[in-house]
Amino acid sequence: MATNPVPRFPDGFLWGVSTSAHQIEGAADEREPSVWDVFTSEPGRVKDGSTAAVACDHYHRYREDVALLADLGVGAYRFSVSWPRVNSPGGLGFYDRLVDELCAAGVRPVPTLFHWDLPAGLDWLERDTASRFAQYVSVVADRLGDRVGKWITLNEPAEHTLLGHALGTHAPGRELLFDALPVAHHQLLAHGLAVRALRAAGATDIGIANSHAPTWPASDEPADREAAEFYDVLLNRLFSDPLLLGRYPDGVGELMPDDADADLPVIAEPLDWYGVNYYAPARVGAPQGTESESGGVTLPAALPFSVRAIEGRPVTDFGWPVVPEGLTELLTGLGDRYGDRLPPVVVTENGCSYEGLDDQDRIAYLDGHVRAVHRALEAGVDVRGYFVWSLLDNFEWAEGYARRFGLVHVDFATRERTPKASYRWYRDLVRGRR
Ligand code: BGC
Repeated sequence: MATNPVPRFPDGFLWGVSTSAHQIEGAADEREPSVWDVFTSEPGRVKDGSTAAVACDHYHRYREDVALLADLGVGAYRFSVSWPRVNSPGGLGFYDRLVDELCAAGVRPVPTLFHWDLPAGLDWLERDTASRFAQYVSVVADRLGDRVGKWITLNEPAEHTLLGHALGTHAPGRELLFDALPVAHHQLLAHGLAVRALRAAGATDIGIANSHAPTWPASDEPADREAAEFYDVLLNRLFSDPLLLGRYPDGVGELMPDDADADLPVIAEPLDWYGVNYYAPARVGAPQGTESESGGVTLPAALPFSVRAIEGRPVTDFGWPVVPEGLTELLTGLGDRYGDRLPPVVVTENGCSYEGLDDQDRIAYLDGHVRAVHRALEAGVDVRGYFVWSLLDNFEWAEGYARRFGLVHVDFATRERTPKASYRWYRDLVRGRR
């Protein structure tokens, strides 16, 4: 285990942890259903057959969880607001109480306004969902904006498009492959409209949390390089280019809805900061005529690329390779590609799934990735914060409760919380740096 002191970060560097509503709140019977409630009620969708009906029961135990955050000493807590809960009587009151509790504990609230739990009945294939989203965002901003400074519009529109609508392993379970691309455009439009709604409500510190994976060609062969380039466009640049450059990358713009270009000025509304979620790079080559496997997800043979294993690395319990330098590569790569167009960056998610309370593997993972962020700072990237995924073990989507990403262990029979060794490690880190 690494014991060298972590290098010094700039004053004001924001240390935090992240969660999302559907994964921790529970109290599903106290709100309207989301697409995830519908999806998990269908047999075979979630590996262990579980649902998030109770999850960590954070809805009823939020005071205990805020006390854990206060003891951890983080400067900020990234959580998500459940749109179906806001649509339900008393739902906004919960976030009011949570925000008050966080402020009283000296922890800055950082809400994400959409983390995949779309109200059942709405559909990202419909353009109108973007306007509906902006209306909901205005309601939340009016209620919480006096105490919330830092906002995140969307979490990972790339994963939500890919897993939820192209491959069908996440809600709403569609398998549209490239016909899912309007879902990406409508989320990006929703993001831009939400930025405008937040600004109209007086917000000044707005970002997005995008997933990014540095993409490594499987070999120097032209076919592998071309496939990797396409993967990079589809999973990375399809989202960051319109946001930061105001245009879709060549090769995908033409797959978007007809009116897409007219929306680009809205999508490219200036951001105050850019959030990246990083777990591992992707190694990609030409199609091999068979299915390939990526992070526990099966990719059909029909795709114009195949994802290959990254050999010679430790892997997490999820089978994801541990590649800390991929985070430096990602951050410096964003700086190289977007230059002055890149606002300050915040790592809005980084973490790993491991079993056990004495989770030395997680400590090694976090230690390596925090150092990787520092190397990006040294290389001149303006990184302002780092958030661990996740505070608590939680409902890991199609994996159910089988994957434990928390700094705090949750016993899903009793909901008892037990801080792990990594919680104490992170506490020492953030307390030394705040
Ligand atoms: C998501 C989280 C998820 C984590 C680990 C991210 O893609 O934003 O909700 O739990 O990865 O899979």
